[in-house]
Amino acid sequence: MSFSEEILSWYDANKRDLPWRGERDPYRIWLSEIMLQQTQTETVKGYYARFLARFPTVADLAAAEEAQVLKLWEGLGYYSRARNLHAAARKVAHECGGVFPTDAAGLRALPGVGPYAANAIASIAYGEPVPALDGNQARVLGRVLAWEPELKTPFDLLKPAQSLISKDRPGDYNQALMDLGATLCLPKAPRCGLCPVAERCRAFREDAALDFPRKPAPVAKKEQDWTVLLMTCGDKLLVRRRPKGLLGGLYEFCAVEGWHDTEAVIAILEDMGFKNPVILEALPDARHVFTHLVWRMRGLRAACDAFPDAYTAVTPEQLDPLPFPSALRTYRGLVTRKQS
Ligand code: ADE
Repeated sequence: MSFSEEILSWYDANKRDLPWRGERDPYRIWLSEIMLQQTQTETVKGYYARFLARFPTVADLAAAEEAQVLKLWEGLGYYSRARNLHAAARKVAHECGGVFPTDAAGLRALPGVGPYAANAIASIAYGEPVPALDGNQARVLGRVLAWEPELKTPFDLLKPAQSLISKDRPGDYNQALMDLGATLCLPKAPRCGLCPVAERCRAFREDAALDFPRKPAPVAKKEQDWTVLLMTCGDKLLVRRRPKGLLGGLYEFCAVEGWHDTEAVIAILEDMGFKNPVILEALPDARHVFTHLVWRMRGLRAACDAFPDAYTAVTPEQLDPLPFPSALRTYRGLVTRKQS
């Protein structure tokens, strides 16, 4: 048996039972692949079902407001995925007659569809023999080949991956490598005893699975300190829609960069245009780790008499449908109907 036949026969007997398995509809396959980038399958399952219940077709998604899409994405992180998903749905609906592009090159023209997603979708939906090179597939192949060069991106392995892929069942083959990477060829504790291709794996034969794939040294994450304020004006809470960029389009509370004593916070708030700000109490600290950045947050409850235009004063009922990032979960969780 060839490498790909070995992989496929393992897949046929061991594949994970996932909601998007066996799916032929490119809309649903696209949605699953975008959600699965940077997110665990177990987490995606619920979001995938809720999203499809609300937006069963690409036309339904195209017709939605961005805030509705972000609200359904709330907690999944990497929100540019949701904004791009929405923009891509509009493109398919309005510029492509509601029909998805039918090959990897065409799919790449959609917002948010990079080389990994394009290849995953094209192989699963249309049987195009292109490798879906994500971290999982790169780890499996990096070990099988004992690939010496440092991998800057999984696509460094494009050539060998292309030569190994099954031409008959490329979608199943790609998903087989995803499952193998997720269940056996694990980063820290590979279960080589159960692996269908252990005998073909150079790293295993050399007892060096943990040494592959070779990775560049990680870059230190930048740390940013914030003072987050649950600021009320009258009996309403102040929120702001974040501008483009990190977490763009999501909502946030008032925030001041850095940690300061009470007097300094008040002076900064006055400079920002808040009238008569007062600090009421300290709230818990929180920390959120993004891909390249860490937010270290200190919380304060505060009040003011008037506020700058960028902010909106909302009642608890108005707050409910607004999408907030998980990074602010601690403070969002402190807004109860009574206190806000
Ligand atoms: N990760 C990314 N895409 C996947 C898929 N189609 N099945 C399982 N895990 C995945």
